[in-house]
Amino acid sequence: MSHAHEKVEKNITLMAILIAVAVSFGGIAEIVPLMFQAEAIKPLPGVKPYPALELAGREVYIREGCYNCHSQMVRTLRFETERYGHYSLAGESVYDRPFQWGSKRTGPDLARVGGRYSDDWHRVHLNNPRDLVPESNMPGFPWLADATVDGALVKKKMQALRTLGDPYTQADIDGANAAVEGKTELDAVVAYLQGLGKHAPRGG
Ligand code: HEC
Repeated sequence: MSHAHEKVEKNITLMAILIAVAVSFGGIAEIVPLMFQAEAIKPLPGVKPYPALELAGREVYIREGCYNCHSQMVRTLRFETERYGHYSLAGESVYDRPFQWGSKRTGPDLARVGGRYSDDWHRVHLNNPRDLVPESNMPGFPWLADATVDGALVKKKMQALRTLGDPYTQADIDGANAAVEGKTELDAVVAYLQGLGKHAPRGG
């Protein structure tokens, strides 16, 4: 036995292979059970694909790089659940492509921000955060109020998501243009923010 151990220690190729095998056991033990766990990929009750305007807002959120400072994942840590509410569940973000999880918190986590402020609060805040939070280092996004949402693009995006399995109906897709007609990107981001955490589990 000790002889075998010596062999491994003196042969770097063999040791590298055995390390890779040992490490992949850990990975397999974590990943494989998830593939058989329906809850991990099943939406929570009430969680639906994003309506047209919220989907457009989500695009703007990603384009503007909001995720560089904000995550959307409440971790299972007491100080997080006390501040933000129930920890995030996988079933909340089944329609999030790409997902917005993370733990980098230059700004607060936004997974539960829906309904916390009024639409007007968000409008003023997004235009210039320091009008409401004087010490804020969040940049202003004043151009969002002047840019209109492109309905044709939202429609295409919904079609693409449907091919990936999101259960959009034909009526959802046909109605996309009308749903965002005359709306600005600011309207869209506010709608998106107000929807975040809407179907989250309640309690801490
Ligand atoms: C450079 C980092 C940074 C970026 C980029 C950024 N934010 Fe923020 N955000 C912050 C900080 C810091 C705060 C806390 C101070 C404040 O409320 O302004 C904040 C606060 C917020 C809040 C209030 C959250 C709460 O619970 O009080 C919302 C909503 C928000 N940001 C949305 C956005 C959106 C939408 C974008 C992209 C359009 C964005 N942020 C981009 C740093 C950032």
